[in-house]
Amino acid sequence: MTSIQPRKLTVVGGGYVGSTCVHLAALKNLASEIVLIDVIEGRPQGIALDMNQSAAVEGFQSRVIGTNDPAETEDSDLVIVTAGRPRKPGMSRSDLLEVNGRIISDVAETIRRGSPDAIVIVVTNPLDTMVTLMRAKTGFPARRVIGMAGVLDSSRFAWFIHEATGAAVADVRAMVLGAHGDSMVPLPDYCTVNGVQLADLVPLDEIEAMAERTRKGGAEIVGLLGSGSAWYAPASAAVAMAESILNDAHRLLPCACLLNGEYGIEGIYMGVPAYLGRGGVERILEVPLKNEARSALHRTAGAIQDDVDALRERGLF
Ligand code: LAC
Repeated sequence: MTSIQPRKLTVVGGGYVGSTCVHLAALKNLASEIVLIDVIEGRPQGIALDMNQSAAVEGFQSRVIGTNDPAETEDSDLVIVTAGRPRKPGMSRSDLLEVNGRIISDVAETIRRGSPDAIVIVVTNPLDTMVTLMRAKTGFPARRVIGMAGVLDSSRFAWFIHEATGAAVADVRAMVLGAHGDSMVPLPDYCTVNGVQLADLVPLDEIEAMAERTRKGGAEIVGLLGSGSAWYAPASAAVAMAESILNDAHRLLPCACLLNGEYGIEGIYMGVPAYLGRGGVERILEVPLKNEARSALHRTAGAIQDDVDALRERGLF
């Protein structure tokens, strides 16, 4: 039996996204201790017991701990933050600004005090604003506070490309940058099936339709579910990032990083391709973009800034 790394992963929020993150991380033996914390009494404890009771069947060695006590999250190496309200049908992610802003502020304080060396992956919506707030409230270096969304949005685009081409989904590579919202920027020029350009496989109008469905990908699922929002793909995306960081794998993944002049944008958290390793964001990659995509990235930065300003007006910064 291979030995498991003695390290601690905490997942904040025991909803569907959080509990699925814990499950995936356990199945991958990502950490010896995986803590799930939630404010609802009994819920994280129940989820943890249930999951630990699957260990004999699955053969994983991670030990899952469910708790309501922030002290049990202390000295985490990595924290995935999923706490917050999901959207209801008809709501935009920005409608969650105030309610989730308060939750993120509280969680940031717990992480700052208890796990001062942790890397934080934020999943809570509106993503780009919540990761900005997390960074401000923890005071951590930007390379240690990262937002999940590009991996999710790219994976949604990849699924539609698989459906359109019939190619094995594992051979599809897709890239979506910008905000995790209606202004996100799918980049067909960076989509391939094992290196073959998407434009050589699918007509342009179909590519545009897939890009638009990707932009509305989260809302489509909110509409279908009627209550709650997606959890499997968001959790897979967050755990892929955590895996690259904890295993120092240097995967190039699109995620929300603080820009420092890259793409001509300064001081805004936004989805860009970045190498993720043990230190968190090791390097942001600036890929060449056509004018149209570059303008779209600047528009998306404006949309994020509006949300950050709205949060500031509400006194949450
Ligand atoms: C979604 C949520 C997680 O896109 O924002 O499904």
